[in-house]
Amino acid sequence: GITDSFGAAIHALGPSQLTDGVIHRSKRMMLDTLGVGLLGTRTAVFNKAVKYSQTFRSEQRSSVWGRSDLTLPPCYAAFVNGIAVHSMDFDDTWHPATHPSGAVLPALLALAEQLPSRPSGLDLLLAFNVGIEVQGRLLRFSREAYNIPEFHPPSVVGVMGSAAASAKLLGLSPSQCSHALAIAASSAGAPLANAATQTKPLHIGNAARRGLEAARLAQAGLEGNPAVLDVDSGLGVYYKDYSPSAMPDCASGAFRWILEDQDVAFKRIPAHLAMHWLVDAALAASAELQETVWSFDPSQIRRVTLRVPPSKYIDVPLPTTEHQARHSFQFNACSALLDNKVTVASFDPAQINRPALRELLSKVEVTTPADNRPSFDDMYCEVQVETAQGGSCTARCDTFYGHWRKPLSQQDLVEKFCANASSVLSSEGVEGVID
Ligand SMILES: *[C@@H]1O[C@H](CO)[C@@H](O)[C@H](O)[C@H]1NC(C)=O
Repeated sequence: GITDSFGAAIHALGPSQLTDGVIHRSKRMMLDTLGVGLLGTRTAVFNKAVKYSQTFRSEQRSSVWGRSDLTLPPCYAAFVNGIAVHSMDFDDTWHPATHPSGAVLPALLALAEQLPSRPSGLDLLLAFNVGIEVQGRLLRFSREAYNIPEFHPPSVVGVMGSAAASAKLLGLSPSQCSHALAIAASSAGAPLANAATQTKPLHIGNAARRGLEAARLAQAGLEGNPAVLDVDSGLGVYYKDYSPSAMPDCASGAFRWILEDQDVAFKRIPAHLAMHWLVDAALAASAELQETVWSFDPSQIRRVTLRVPPSKYIDVPLPTTEHQARHSFQFNACSALLDNKVTVASFDPAQINRPALRELLSKVEVTTPADNRPSFDDMYCEVQVETAQGGSCTARCDTFYGHWRKPLSQQDLVEKFCANASSVLSSEGVEGVID
């Protein structure tokens, strides 16, 4: 069975199977996840989740990122740290689309503190990669997963990845690994209607937490449907065109990590991934206007036309909250045109509500050309700016810097980590994590 093949692979994969390429890529993912997670501990959604989680007591306590004064029961530590990672929508993105690391790393770190002996760095890397690999395999069970599916992907494959990674770190048997997946499948699925709200970061927090719980329940002998990946009424309920296939036998030499062939995207702005194409195009259009139009300033803009892929939940004409702004093509284009950059500070309420921005928003038109598909692999964004004086500039972005086709340099990745983590950690702390 397919589920059996996953249980067997989760159990059997060993550190000697980690390749240099996979180690390098997954270390980058971990560092970026810790950086955006530490920065995310300064958000309202994280603080609300911490306040709620502090009402629970247990003898087992795990660390809360960015809060040396605070520990929580392990599953709540995984929950709040997962929320921190996705609180600004600043975490990594894979193809087919999901945010792979945020569901896995918080679960593993919370669990690592509970093990009788501390796992090695290699144990952690292996469990992390098992959690990423399972997500990559499941995402390839459906064509629908390549576009924008009906459920938020981290809530579907993320909880499965967290369960697989946690089962690996706990050293569960092949059959317990399968049952961990079955148990986790009953916590999968979150509707996209909650994108652009404070609840979206919970999708990652819940995935981390529920996956960790599933592995510990399987360890305690709890069982689910041992064919959960094989049947349409199992994980298949999340996709209309579900077509699962078995994991190759890891001992046979036929196994190859998906991360080896498909790298992740790292974000440069704390917003939905699609905004990265748009901001690059808007900045290029604005730079051209500044060169060609004498004493250009944004108040001369008559109309802004955005040519973007179709999507309901990232087309937000008049955002009022930071979470709507992170999902608004219109907002990100206007911020880039007004400020010549989009940063963490762009999403402050005062910035969102300033009159110049509200005025520019009213001049934006969104169109969706037929050739622009809603896929992070081949979408594009084009921005056309027309001035009151009759000037016009158009710029298009096919691949932003940070996309898997144009990976972030190691230096820029480390600089992003340093800038983000130093909002919370001392400089020794920052250097220590990088080390
Ligand atoms: C986090 O990193 C991004 C990307 O390098 C940077 O733009 C942002 O300013 C950093 N955040 C803080 C609070 O410094």
